[in-house]
Amino acid sequence: MTTPIAGAAGVPLIEAQDLTVRFGKVTALDGLELTAQAGKVLAVLGPNGAGKTTFVRCIATLVRPDAGRLLVRGQDVVREASSVRRDIGLAGQFAAVEPTMTGRENLEMTARLFGHGRTAARLAAASVIDQLGLGDVADRRTGGYSGGQRRRLDLGASLVGSPRLLLLDEPTTGLDPVGRSEVWAAVRDLAATGTDILLTTHYLEEADELADHVVVIDHGQVIAAGPLGELKASIGQDVIDIAVSDAATLPAVADILTRVTATPARRQPAGQHVTALAPGGPAQLAAVIGRLQQAAIAVEEIGLRRPSLDEVFLVLTSASDGAGDPTPPATAGQLVTGRTS
Ligand SMILES: Nc1ncnc2c1ncn2[C@@H]1O[C@H](COP(=O)(O)OP(=O)(O)OP(=O)(O)O)[C@@H](O)[C@H]1O
Ligand SMILES: [Mg+2]
Repeated sequence: MTTPIAGAAGVPLIEAQDLTVRFGKVTALDGLELTAQAGKVLAVLGPNGAGKTTFVRCIATLVRPDAGRLLVRGQDVVREASSVRRDIGLAGQFAAVEPTMTGRENLEMTARLFGHGRTAARLAAASVIDQLGLGDVADRRTGGYSGGQRRRLDLGASLVGSPRLLLLDEPTTGLDPVGRSEVWAAVRDLAATGTDILLTTHYLEEADELADHVVVIDHGQVIAAGPLGELKASIGQDVIDIAVSDAATLPAVADILTRVTATPARRQPAGQHVTALAPGGPAQLAAVIGRLQQAAIAVEEIGLRRPSLDEVFLVLTSASDGAGDPTPPATAGQLVTGRTS
């Protein structure tokens, strides 16, 4: 059982100040500022190349910052790297397991690498197998594991050291829905036992499912951060969502929606839905209904709702690209704490 992080009073889980990492001419992290408190599942979102993996690798002490400061539970990742390493577990984007060995053998080997003796390694492996519900497959060679089973084993390998902070870089990329839900269940169980979790993901649905707090990174900077609900509210706009019964009417509906809201209408992949941000709220909804009636287009459902994380993400990242304005929104970099910078 992992000890919950109470953290010394007032000591944040992660504190990044002006964190800068360069790879040759590429600036992967560009003065990133973030304060995150313990006790929450934190999802780091951002487009390809935003700097998410680099940030995770800095926390894991695998990448040394070129400038700025990064503290993990109050410990400096450069000066106190070995104590930071004792606190964390990392599961990378590609599951690293030895295919000719069984799951149990893989976990025991990892535990030995953590410095456990033979008996302690056996116990640590058994405990992780139990924790992640891998009992059915633990004694089979991992070469025959499904993608989801392999990911769970990889997650297990990052747990044998009983980390206080678990770092998951794209834990479900490439998994089918079953594999994904298996990993989600494991992450939820871990969070429930008090392990702090920081995960990166491209699946906004995943952040919605698992995370209490979200950080959006773009161009190596935090462009927004906060509890999910607040982030959704922060863009200050609702969405008009229309479901049509006849798919042939979708283009006409999308056209009306775009004209009234002056924002691009998007056809949703699931079902016969078309949506658009509605800066004008209920008045625009009324206008859309009027236009649909005029055009004699029947719809199955129409309404105003809060934006999904997906929609919030698009608004935030397109604002950060378009304006080129380095000033982050008011919530950027501040999670829970009273930091004022
Ligand atoms: N070892 C490296 N050498 C050179 N450039 C690197 C290295 N690691 C990262 N970069 C560059 O730094 C930038 C940030 O990369 P990073 O992997 O952190 O992005 P990411 O947000 O994780 O992207 P993705 O969503 O594609 O995984 C990119 O431009 C990338 O090409
Ligand atoms: Mg990455």
